[in-house]
Amino acid sequence: MSTEQTLTINGKKVNFTPGQTILEIARENGIDIPTLCYLDRCKPTGSCRICLVEVKGARALVASCAMPAAPGMEVQTESESVIKARRMVIELLLASGEHNCMTCEANGECTLQDLAYKYQVETVRFARPMEYFPTESNNPLIIRDFSKCVLCGRCVQACNEVQVNLAISFGYRGTRSKIVTKGDVALEDSDCVFCGECVRVCPVGALVEKKARYMGRSWEETKIRTTCTYCGVGCQIYLHIKDGRVLRVSGVDDGLPNQGSLCVKGKFGYEFIQSDQRLTTPLIREGDGFKEATWDEALDMVAKRFLEIKEKDGPDSLAGLTSARVTNEENYLMQKLVRTGFGTNNIDHCARL
Ligand code: FES
Repeated sequence: MSTEQTLTINGKKVNFTPGQTILEIARENGIDIPTLCYLDRCKPTGSCRICLVEVKGARALVASCAMPAAPGMEVQTESESVIKARRMVIELLLASGEHNCMTCEANGECTLQDLAYKYQVETVRFARPMEYFPTESNNPLIIRDFSKCVLCGRCVQACNEVQVNLAISFGYRGTRSKIVTKGDVALEDSDCVFCGECVRVCPVGALVEKKARYMGRSWEETKIRTTCTYCGVGCQIYLHIKDGRVLRVSGVDDGLPNQGSLCVKGKFGYEFIQSDQRLTTPLIREGDGFKEATWDEALDMVAKRFLEIKEKDGPDSLAGLTSARVTNEENYLMQKLVRTGFGTNNIDHCARL
């Protein structure tokens, strides 16, 4: 028996499953409702109020991201009062900080900027606070600019509910509210593991990548999708390229298995790609040093030495130890080489150590 129920959005009858929010149903039906604090895979907090909609009979506008649908509801997502309320929310958010886009790293990728443009908010009637918490830039990876923070809480949810690192939360109260680590210490002195999830979900320029700062605008970059090389999980990533160099790395939001999330290595450990010290040809030991060789020379030499050892001392004098840091396919090939090439079952894996 179908459990589907019906409501009306902008005059259109749509079906929904009990438990769904108005926002989820709207999105399923191609109806755009803007969001800012809402974060996929997390409990809605309803804190920013940009997703307000009008529900017939309700005393006030409701936050669609947090409001469960009910049968027979009549919802308006773009009524005059909704637009007025959203413009007010944007004005208040703009007044809460120093939202000057000139040199902001998020320019072109900022939800608040897009919203101000969409709803044509040109002036802000409210006074800005005179003081902000100082910008924190004393670690090598993440800059925290509190003058741009809109306290949406997405970073807190990403840290606690997605990555479960429990490193950051809200601190202080009222106009002094701030995103803090335990004891409000610098990130590098806290439980932060620098996975960069908070940077990924920040909808403004409050959290930015230090190494990529001033290296290029988002519209100057070419994004190339690839698979992270650090381990066998196979996280899907984009390399952001400008002038042939990798400026930064981001996770692919709709790509499995990581759904946009990364670890510190996948997110920030990309400089080896363009390092001058990177080995680009095989090296063969000669006395105390090494000489450069072709791949054919190197592989011939390794094969010859394995054969010599096998002939002299038998196949069980050889062994292979493989790794969780490579792909399943590479692990398969390694055991194949050892079993059929070497002729021994001496094959093991670092995970057993
Ligand atoms: Fe719904 Fe922020 S997106 S309240």
